[in-house]
Amino acid sequence: MKIAIVGTGYVGLVSAACFAELGHEVIGVDIDAAKVAMLKQGKSPIYEPGLEELLRSGLKSGRLSFTTKLADALPGTKILFSAVATPEGEGHRADLRAVFAVSETVAQTVDHDLVFVNKSTVPVGTGAECQKRIDIVLKKRTSSLSVQVVSNPEFLREGMAVPDTMMPDRIVVGLNDDPRFKKLNAKALLEELYRPITRANKPLLFMGRESAEVVKYASNAFLATKISFINMLTELCEKTGANIRDIATGMGLDNRIGPKFLHAGIGYGGSCFPKDVKALLATAKEHGLSMPIVEATDKVNQKQRERFIAKILKTLSKKSHIGVWGLSFKPKTDDMREAPSIDVIAALTKAGHTVSAFDPVAMDRAKPLLPKKVTYTKDAIDAVKKADALLVLTEWDIFRGADLGEVKKTMKGTLLFDGRNMYEPEEVEREGLQYFGIGL
Ligand SMILES: NC(=O)c1ccc[n+]([C@@H]2O[C@H](COP(=O)([O-])OP(=O)(O)OC[C@H]3O[C@@H](n4cnc5c(N)ncnc54)[C@H](O)[C@@H]3O)[C@@H](O)[C@H]2O)c1
Repeated sequence: MKIAIVGTGYVGLVSAACFAELGHEVIGVDIDAAKVAMLKQGKSPIYEPGLEELLRSGLKSGRLSFTTKLADALPGTKILFSAVATPEGEGHRADLRAVFAVSETVAQTVDHDLVFVNKSTVPVGTGAECQKRIDIVLKKRTSSLSVQVVSNPEFLREGMAVPDTMMPDRIVVGLNDDPRFKKLNAKALLEELYRPITRANKPLLFMGRESAEVVKYASNAFLATKISFINMLTELCEKTGANIRDIATGMGLDNRIGPKFLHAGIGYGGSCFPKDVKALLATAKEHGLSMPIVEATDKVNQKQRERFIAKILKTLSKKSHIGVWGLSFKPKTDDMREAPSIDVIAALTKAGHTVSAFDPVAMDRAKPLLPKKVTYTKDAIDAVKKADALLVLTEWDIFRGADLGEVKKTMKGTLLFDGRNMYEPEEVEREGLQYFGIGL
């Protein structure tokens, strides 16, 4: 099937490359000309394991192509995905300008019936608003074309985006019955598009468009709540001698709870959880509702970061040099959006400390977001040269396997702040380092 995907970021590009790999003909559209130029050469503008290989194979097969012009992408397309960004906007609401711009441009340009699939994370009611805007533009054109807006939220995890797209836990499609679009048969088209995945027994769930929009926010808010719940307990552990790891293990073995997302640390960051939690609260407020659990999730997350910063600043007795390991918001991605490293490093330099940082892939994206005084090193061990303290902010595997004896020899001081509870305190202390974890 021929499809177009507008927005070739973390979601759009991965979807495009995977759909092409699954045999569809895909054209990716982006307003960023530099990004499109890179993509045409088979170079991925983002770090995502396995993505560049798929990109190259798609280009080679001729099933994957890119353009900056939406009009060039439309001919022959049955489905158009919109996967543009919906960042935090005014009053913490999702900024939907790109979503509406794409819907209106599609309505102005299209010359055949089309299913418009919204893959971006958007508040409930956005699909209805897109449909309204599309209908108005088509009416102005005195066109009788059918363009139906469908919701298909994305659940991929950065760092695992390719396997998550190829073998998702579920695919959610929200579409409302509308006699105007009977002939279009969006349900059958989406079933056909996703057949290579449903054949591998992955569930494709159909529901109303509003429900699908809420499923996405509900899932992210629930996962964020699990993280904040375990983080909430870390302070009690620190005051009482309880150990958060033992608590997480003890809780997680209960089948009703499960072990995932019970890893205590400096809290969640990234391009989704922080903004989606806040946007859900903003949506609730617009409807005159409150969501106290979600509110608490956000507050605990903020407090967790502040508590960690306070612990470091209190422990450093003099102006210190700090080696930082990890800048991206989580491992296996170069995404720096809302990464805890931004706040933590800013607080350290503001207090007069100096920082040398290393991240396996995110340093280029981090530089514009971090204080100018920060220096960057070629590897992890270089970052701790003459350092008074080591601070671990992202749990990359390469740090997990670090030789702590060598770290101790290379450092000037002995402090190790582990923002991800990666190391065993006893192991660190055996090497002559002083360990500071979270809730341990
Ligand atoms: N990143 C994730 O892990 C993830 C996971 C699930 C859902 N989502 C959601 O998916 C959506 C996209 O997120 P992302 O991380 O891929 O964003 P992104 O910023 O990486 O990519 C968005 C792309 O859209 C392009 N764009 C913006 N306006 C455009 C326009 N008018 N026409 C064409 N292209 C345009 C941008 O140039 C950019 O390349 C968001 O709603 C996000 O919340 C993201």
